Amino acid sequence: MVITFEGIDGSGKSTQVDLLAEWLRMKGKKVATFREPGGTIITEKIRTILLTKGAEELSDKTELLLFLAARNHLITTKLIPLLETDTIVVLDRFSDSTLAYQGYGRGIDLDVIQQLLKFSVNQLVPSVTFYIDMCFTDAVNRLVSSTKKLDRFESLGEDFFDKVRNGYIELQKNDPNRILSISGNKTIEEIHSFVTKELERKFSSLI
Ligand code: ADP
Ligand code: TYD
Repeated sequence: MVITFEGIDGSGKSTQVDLLAEWLRMKGKKVATFREPGGTIITEKIRTILLTKGAEELSDKTELLLFLAARNHLITTKLIPLLETDTIVVLDRFSDSTLAYQGYGRGIDLDVIQQLLKFSVNQLVPSVTFYIDMCFTDAVNRLVSSTKKLDRFESLGEDFFDKVRNGYIELQKNDPNRILSISGNKTIEEIHSFVTKELERKFSSLI
């Protein structure tokens, strides 16, 4: 089983990934968590290239291909072997991030991204995705203490994040069985409780 969390930066994904992993472990499940891009030596290097401001700008297409390269490497080297041992994999971002950020945000053709996703993610579709919905202003206010993250908000801009958010809303509408949406303005406990209840409802025999 693969469970993913999606949403704009600062919406509370990694908080929920950690809480869910702890909850699943308490239930005796084997769990592994990863953030994307990241999770292996090579993908952490790709993360540095993608997320460190350098002298040279990446083109939109180079950025897209690097996110996909990192995802393919993570899937091949970590996720597939873990799934073969019945480990539940919880991911902080996955393919929906690419559709939302590179597709809706940067404006790269969604059909092209879908084709490239087919090639690079080996048909791996999350069993369920929790989309934490939050607007740009609320996310910025929440992250006032994190200079590195605020930098990203500043360089990408409000318009970009509005497009990403609208993209997520559209993706959720098109796939409401897989993508479940919850407001990021609820408390950490309320969101966690939504997540666990939905998992118990959807996968009662497994969880
Ligand atoms: P993301 O992984 O989406 O960037 P984080 O989980 O790192 O987001 O959360 C960003 C910040 O907001 C952290 O300081 C975290 O403690 C706080 N936070 C997370 N969820 C909530 C929430 N529901 N209400 C208030 N603050 C939250
Ligand atoms: P990260 O610090 O992990 O974000 P968060 O604050 O949400 O925890 O940074 C990941 C950044 O990379 C984030 O801005 C979203 C972006 N991203 C893409 O643009 N495309 C992708 O396919 C992925 C996985 C991430």
